[in-house]
Amino acid sequence: MSAADTLLYVESLFVSFDGFLALRNLNLIVDRTERVRLLIGPNGAGKTTLFDVLTGHVTPVSGRVLFRDTVSLLGRSPHAIANLGVIRKFQTPSVFPGHSVFENMILSVGRKQFGETMAAGRRALHADEIAAALDHVGLLGQSHELAGRLSHGQKQWLELAMLLVQAPPLLLLDEPVAGMTKPEKEKTAELLRTIVERSSSSIMLIEHDMDFVRTIAARGHRVTVLHEGTVLAEGPLERVQADQRVVKAYLGRGQVKAEA
Ligand SMILES: Nc1ncnc2c1ncn2[C@@H]1O[C@H](COP(=O)(O)OP(=O)(O)OP(=O)(O)O)[C@@H](O)[C@H]1O
Ligand SMILES: [Mg+2]
Repeated sequence: MSAADTLLYVESLFVSFDGFLALRNLNLIVDRTERVRLLIGPNGAGKTTLFDVLTGHVTPVSGRVLFRDTVSLLGRSPHAIANLGVIRKFQTPSVFPGHSVFENMILSVGRKQFGETMAAGRRALHADEIAAALDHVGLLGQSHELAGRLSHGQKQWLELAMLLVQAPPLLLLDEPVAGMTKPEKEKTAELLRTIVERSSSSIMLIEHDMDFVRTIAARGHRVTVLHEGTVLAEGPLERVQADQRVVKAYLGRGQVKAEA
């Protein structure tokens, strides 16, 4: 394997939790030209553990993880990795509930500027950028609302807008539509499409909701199936869904629906 022109290069990754191998010989390459990579797999496959390694929360036993060909992510703190532009969105929206939607955006722009605090000047400086991002996620009208008063879906979109203005080279999303209503899921799929079109960020996305996966994958993005800590299949969704090893891995553990 070669790490040339890769956004992410993962080789022979092993993670052990007290002797249990959560990741075993995991190999994964995300090309620089790829904008979205979907990650699916039954419960316990190791999907979240992979994100934990990429963001410095879990230290592997062995393996290599290179970001943009040469930058090793292993041995770096979560903070250092975030500063490199590998940003993770957790399942629960992490917005500041006591601040307005606009202030939340200001705080995240501040984060992008490596920890500068909220300063009067920043508000004017980034107002256009913030308005555009809020407009993308349909929250421009709620700018002055307290973030804590938004619905679950709106909080998720606010957080996406906050990440959007940071324009990370790699955005990791772990089950972004969990707990959402069907219309909220549809809107989130639309939002991700907008993010992909209008920003330079690449997205790696873990998701169980197969309707959602199908919507995203229909745009030609590759799907990686993880099972028991390793990559079981990779390619277009129709191909991995038809793969008998994938069908078998999902048996009795939820579904990877075979119908189109
Ligand atoms: N901190 C930990 N300590 C011990 N075992 C862990 C820890 N984190 C994860 N595991 C185990 O590692 C395996 C992989 O877990 P992981 O959370 O990565 O799976 P997942 O693919 O994200 O599953 P799900 O779809 O249910 O979120 C599971 O068997 C899990 O119980
Ligand atoms: Mg998980």
